[in-house]
Amino acid sequence: MSDEYKPTVSERETEVQPRKGGKVKRHCLRFWWAYLIAFVCIVILVVCLIIFVGVPKIAQNKVNDATLEIDSIVASNTQSDNFTMSINSTIRLSSSTSATIDAFEGVMYLEDYLPHEPFLSLAFPQTTGDSFQVVNISQFTPITDMEGMTRFNTWLLLNDSIRVTVEGDTNIHVKGLSRAYPINFKKTVTLKGLQNFNGTTLPYSNVSLTADENGDNFHAITTVPNRSVVTFELGNVSFTSYLLGQEVGTTYMDNMVLRPGLNNFTTHANISQSAVLNALQMKPYCDQGGLLPFQLTGKDVVNNGQHLPYYAHALGAANQTIDIPIGFDLKRDHGIALNCKA
Ligand SMILES: *[C@@H]1O[C@H](CO)[C@@H](O)[C@H](O)[C@H]1NC(C)=O
Ligand SMILES: *[C@@H]1O[C@H](CO)[C@@H](O)[C@H](O)[C@H]1NC(C)=O
Ligand SMILES: *[C@@H]1O[C@H](CO)[C@@H](O)[C@H](O)[C@H]1NC(C)=O
Ligand SMILES: *[C@@H]1O[C@H](CO)[C@@H](O)[C@H](O)[C@H]1NC(C)=O
Ligand SMILES: *[C@@H]1O[C@H](CO)[C@@H](O)[C@H](O)[C@H]1NC(C)=O
Ligand SMILES: *[C@@H]1O[C@H](CO)[C@@H](O)[C@H](O)[C@H]1NC(C)=O
Ligand SMILES: *[C@@H]1O[C@H](CO)[C@@H](O)[C@H](O)[C@H]1NC(C)=O
Ligand SMILES: *[C@@H]1O[C@H](CO)[C@@H](O)[C@H](O)[C@H]1NC(C)=O
Ligand SMILES: *[C@@H]1O[C@H](CO)[C@@H](O)[C@H](O)[C@H]1NC(C)=O
Ligand SMILES: *[C@@H]1O[C@H](CO)[C@@H](O)[C@H](O)[C@H]1NC(C)=O
Ligand SMILES: *[C@@H]1O[C@H](CO)[C@@H](O)[C@H](O)[C@H]1NC(C)=O
Repeated sequence: MSDEYKPTVSERETEVQPRKGGKVKRHCLRFWWAYLIAFVCIVILVVCLIIFVGVPKIAQNKVNDATLEIDSIVASNTQSDNFTMSINSTIRLSSSTSATIDAFEGVMYLEDYLPHEPFLSLAFPQTTGDSFQVVNISQFTPITDMEGMTRFNTWLLLNDSIRVTVEGDTNIHVKGLSRAYPINFKKTVTLKGLQNFNGTTLPYSNVSLTADENGDNFHAITTVPNRSVVTFELGNVSFTSYLLGQEVGTTYMDNMVLRPGLNNFTTHANISQSAVLNALQMKPYCDQGGLLPFQLTGKDVVNNGQHLPYYAHALGAANQTIDIPIGFDLKRDHGIALNCKA
């Protein structure tokens, strides 16, 4: 541009003259094209800023402000190396927008276990900018990180609540703009934990003095509370059973499918008779009529012939105390009442 225009001597002279208005007017007339170019450049810059910086920022902020709520998690068709994972969730936005978010592959990890190690991937479907929307996922899930999967189950089993983060990169399409903007979807949700099944009761049980054909001398219905939103297909679960610090046998719960709320499971066990009779004569149990505190630790989980270590190891991570009214059963069924030993 500077090549095209070189001020002449007469022009430079006019610059020092005091007729300001005339100078500006002439200047403008001469350089109208330069101003137009500058104006157009500014407009293009502003539009570019909006499209490349503003919209993505607004879109990302919108996604950041959204809340994800997990309504239910179902692990079904559980096998040794894979299962079907279904999640029903809700995404809420403060206001709806005309945008769509592409389907994406998200990962899930425990927020409070460092370093963050994704143990599951989730195929999120395409979602819209509606202020309230239901996102249901159901997918075949290979277990690629057995340790992470087991840790998740263990934490969920033992803690009052756990925080999990779901994260993934995807694109957002804003209505009226052909460009797709990359965004990061990252949400941390708090799930209620199972509190180690605290509050498990036996609404009914009976003892036999001799083992039946399966080798069992104890039968019961066990009511297990599930405080969380999870449904786990476990199958046949066995527990090592302890009484007063001593191993006294194995307890089995059959066909366990743990659902939210109270669950009844058929239970049978072979329990050392001598250990039980001995404990029933000890204080304070003999005074209470025979409610004995058993401790159970998960031993094995077998679902339709497949061992499920990611459940077995979680159930084996801690003891769960269950009060069993064996003394009452003995008295009711066999008329046996034991007194406190001297
Ligand atoms: C799922 O895992 C089981 C073993 O646990 C395996 O036999 C089966 O082939 C797997 N299914 C698929 C689809 O990979
Ligand atoms: C999600 O909702 C659908 C429809 O009500 C239901 O069939 C499905 O079992 C639910 N899945 C979960 C994980 O709760
Ligand atoms: C998703 O699950 C919820 C229940 O959790 C159900 O009401 C809804 O109908 C389901 N939607 C689809 C598309 O399956
Ligand atoms: C959850 O439980 C595990 C195992 O007991 C423990 O190591 C972990 O610190 C707990 N995490 C939270 C967040 O409570
Ligand atoms: C089980 O729950 C009861 C009542 O909520 C509480 O008092 C008790 O401390 C809990 N036990 C454990 C081991 O968390
Ligand atoms: C003992 O309890 C089990 C489980 O509830 C039941 O199936 C069985 O019939 C009971 N046996 C007797 C002798 O009452
Ligand atoms: C899980 O079980 C607990 C204890 O029975 C109950 O208070 C809670 O409402 C249940 N949770 C759901 C989601 O049903
Ligand atoms: C459970 O309790 C028994 C005896 O009280 C103990 O030997 C065992 O190590 C405990 N198991 C766990 C996982 O804490
Ligand atoms: C219970 O049965 C299991 C498996 O049959 C056996 O290993 C164990 O010794 C038995 N325990 C008692 C106390 O009878
Ligand atoms: C569990 O079994 C007990 C005793 O048979 C019964 O009173 C209760 O209603 C059952 N609960 C459920 C959730 O099935
Ligand atoms: C549990 O064990 C019983 C007896 O062995 C068997 O008939 C049943 O199919 C098993 N259930 C599961 C879910 O594996």
